[in-house]
Amino acid sequence: MPNPTVVGFSGNFTRPSKTRGFVEHVVRDIAVRNNLSASTYDIEDVGASLGSAKWARDLDQQGRDVLDKVVNADVLVVGSPTYKGSYTGLFKHFFDLLDPSALRGKPVLLLATGGGERHALIVEHQLRPLFGFFEALALPTGVYATDKDFADGVLVSEAIRKRAAQAVEEAGYALLRAGGQRVAAE
Ligand SMILES: Cc1cc2nc3c(=O)[nH]c(=O)nc-3n(C[C@H](O)[C@H](O)[C@H](O)COP(=O)(O)O)c2cc1C
Repeated sequence: MPNPTVVGFSGNFTRPSKTRGFVEHVVRDIAVRNNLSASTYDIEDVGASLGSAKWARDLDQQGRDVLDKVVNADVLVVGSPTYKGSYTGLFKHFFDLLDPSALRGKPVLLLATGGGERHALIVEHQLRPLFGFFEALALPTGVYATDKDFADGVLVSEAIRKRAAQAVEEAGYALLRAGGQRVAAE
């Protein structure tokens, strides 16, 4: 059986990116604690075919590979920079290409970054409903970080790191539950 995976997907399309760094931080933490294979992607990794794709079948191989990794992850960590009060347009466009049942029951940890505190509820008001649509298992603790929580692109805020650790712990519980269900089905 292949090693279970944790996959990060970040809605940034410029680099360096605080959001991608934040997603990678959490993905690494989940991987180490639960002995999972880990990878993280962003919009740049999906490649040029994303912008013109109306359906998943319109993606080129590069885009298709990222989509497959996201859909097949055992745990997904998603994050987006706040753009005009929401996730980036290309982040939403990527998820618009997925089948409505593609993420059903999948544990998804929700992250976002923004320039200030004003849009901290993007996690609850934008990300959570999107993954609710997919009937994913969105974890209870979502985490929002602002520019001042980072130094040279690295998450330095103790308060945010602590909250992220709480979300990582919840991902561990979700994995245990999924593992138990797998064993029961065998
Ligand atoms: C086009 C654009 C729109 C933005 N809109 C918002 C916003 O509505 N609210 C906010 O808090 N920050 C906003 N920001 C700031 C970014 O969300 C913030 O700097 C983010 O952490 C950048 O993440 P990145 O380093 O991953 O690109 C905006 C930035 C850009 C470029």
